[in-house]
Amino acid sequence: MKDKLKLGVMFGGRSGEHDVSLMSARSVISVINPEKFEVVEIGITRQGEWFVGENLLSKLQQERFDDLTPAFLLPSPQNPGIYTRKNGEMNLYAKLDVVFPVMHGTYSEDGTLQGLLELADIAYVGAGVLGSSVCMDKGLFKDVMITHQIPTLAYKVLNRTQIETDLDECLQLAEAIGDYPLFTKPANLGSSVGISKCTSRSDLMEGLMQAALYDRRIVVEKGIGDAREIEISILGNENPEASVPGEIIPKDIFYTYSEKYINDTAELLIPADLPVEHVTQMQSLAIKAYKATDCAGMARVDFLLDRASGEIFLNEINTIPGFTKISMYPKLWQASGMSYSALIETLIALALERKAQRDKTEREYRG
Ligand SMILES: Nc1ncnc2c1ncn2[C@@H]1O[C@H](COP(=O)(O)OP(=O)(O)O)[C@@H](O)[C@H]1O
Ligand SMILES: [Mg+2]
Repeated sequence: MKDKLKLGVMFGGRSGEHDVSLMSARSVISVINPEKFEVVEIGITRQGEWFVGENLLSKLQQERFDDLTPAFLLPSPQNPGIYTRKNGEMNLYAKLDVVFPVMHGTYSEDGTLQGLLELADIAYVGAGVLGSSVCMDKGLFKDVMITHQIPTLAYKVLNRTQIETDLDECLQLAEAIGDYPLFTKPANLGSSVGISKCTSRSDLMEGLMQAALYDRRIVVEKGIGDAREIEISILGNENPEASVPGEIIPKDIFYTYSEKYINDTAELLIPADLPVEHVTQMQSLAIKAYKATDCAGMARVDFLLDRASGEIFLNEINTIPGFTKISMYPKLWQASGMSYSALIETLIALALERKAQRDKTEREYRG
């Protein structure tokens, strides 16, 4: 019999999306086929401590850390796996063939964790260092969209020091983008944290300061007064495929943090009710953007559609989208004919394929 693959499922993390990650991980673990995979749970607390052990996910959910075993991922490629320490010595707790980081946001989805997994020589689900970090930074991401002629809303990137030292100039630069509403956003966050819809100069002032609390880099963007929010799931490495589109129907003034995680009032409509030309256009833009940012494995590509003009704008790419059974990413695949468990197995296969591709790279000068 073939050996089972050792699959590390990572959850939690030092990010605002810690709780969402735990929910996503619970869904993922619940469908892993035990005949094919041996799951190794790896939990990271809000403070960034790593743990392994029995019933880890439940313990993290209950915030019970007393009897957990501290764990380590070493940056050297010898004996890739997760380690524990006893009497000052590192011991291999479990070999890892592949990791599924079911974690969102900072230190999870932004290339930092991916860098560590690369150093450790472990295959992992999702985009690599470059794709992760480019998609995380809303400013740089838009620069790439512009280069590839992918429609995106007009924007400017400001930094915190500029806002602290010359707010007037920042207001002028922001207002030069276009008429209100303008959106102010921390460049490197998610979940709508620190984002404001500004309809006046005083809103803008507050919005800039609010965004500057959360990041050194701040994006100001032309706002759509009445936007439809359309999302498409992408799956694949070099030849990615697009799912049917879905629509989020927020009930708040926009799709805010409280709507995403507290009130849960937003509706998901799958498939979105769109003319077929719009669907094909968005699918091809989503694939183009995925390739342009060097994504791999999966991503959810989010669009804003101006209800008044009918124009389509690519808003952002999430390289590790929400992954509970009722999250948009897997639901769009379900509607496109792929079950939740088949999706996870495909993602693992893509992670191994991507690693094999990477391993072909010559590291030394061959002359
Ligand atoms: N330019 C814009 N015009 C209209 N609504 C926007 C705009 N930018 C963001 N929004 C609203 O704010 C929400 C969060 O913004 P988004 O850029 O997706 O950041 P996050 O990474 O936090 O999800 C969007 O889902 C949408 O409801
Ligand atoms: Mg978003």
